[in-house]
Amino acid sequence: MVRVYLHEVTKIFGKNVVALDKVELEVRSGEFMVVMGPSGHGKTTLLRVVAGLEEPTDGEVWIGDTLVASPRKGVFIPPKDRNVGMVFQNWALYPHMRVFDNIAFPLRIKKLPKAEIEKRVREIAEVLGIAETLDRYPRQLSGGQQQRVAIARALVKEPQVLLMDEPFSNLDARIRVTARAFVKDIQRKLSITTILVTHDPADSLTLADRIAVLRRGVIQQIGLPNEIYDKPANIFVANFIGDINLFEGSIVSKGNEVYFDGGDVKVQLPPGVNVQGTENVILA
Ligand SMILES: Nc1ncnc2c1ncn2[C@@H]1O[C@H](COP(=O)(O)OP(=O)(O)O)[C@@H](O)[C@H]1O
Ligand SMILES: [Mg+2]
Repeated sequence: MVRVYLHEVTKIFGKNVVALDKVELEVRSGEFMVVMGPSGHGKTTLLRVVAGLEEPTDGEVWIGDTLVASPRKGVFIPPKDRNVGMVFQNWALYPHMRVFDNIAFPLRIKKLPKAEIEKRVREIAEVLGIAETLDRYPRQLSGGQQQRVAIARALVKEPQVLLMDEPFSNLDARIRVTARAFVKDIQRKLSITTILVTHDPADSLTLADRIAVLRRGVIQQIGLPNEIYDKPANIFVANFIGDINLFEGSIVSKGNEVYFDGGDVKVQLPPGVNVQGTENVILA
């Protein structure tokens, strides 16, 4: 497996829509990285830049030891030569093709021999538990099954990197938990370097080896789930990762005891909290 490295990647649409702003992100070989942020903050763009569906405006994209995009160096390797599998947000299955042909599609483009295609499609369908659906059309499948077909189609090329764009947003809340467990399990089994983007903190906390938080195209923090949760870099991250209450106030010392004073809310702080130079504070 390979690492994926974005070095100061900027993507500007038109004259001034800055979708990604100097993004510095290293995804280690075999790692499950979840990039989290609100809608419209650059998540899909980040995946498309890695896949080669968008060219960055500036910066470098590396997949393994290969520089795949660098405007300054005049490098741009097209998607088909990047060995990356992508699961799109809407799954983008071909409605008029049977499941088998949907999954086989990327292999036919690569002009693999028929027997090889047959073997690889059946293998991946087996792994994903959809072997019995191969003769059906997408509309004859449940949401969860359609999603597995989309994942199978991304994996059948045996890509080095798997990209997933909000893969659970089209699923009922009821089956989302199972679908997450399933994706996590597949990722572990194949130990494939994975970037999943989502606006849902529950995805991040259940799936990620590490989480990167994106706000308006700028990475706010990268860390282990518990680091992001317990030591958020700023209010935005704190607000995003959990349901929290914020109180504005100040710090008051009485003898050895230190209090947060927010008017109606007074809280004694645990010993050892560093509150120097923090007259106006926000308690989360
Ligand atoms: N092809 C495009 N042309 C112009 N603006 C775009 C294009 N794609 C995305 N954008 C803009 O870039 C920003 C980030 O979009 P996107 O990456 O889709 O966000 P997310 O996936 O986090 O919702 C948004 O302001 C969006 O409108
Ligand atoms: Mg998106």
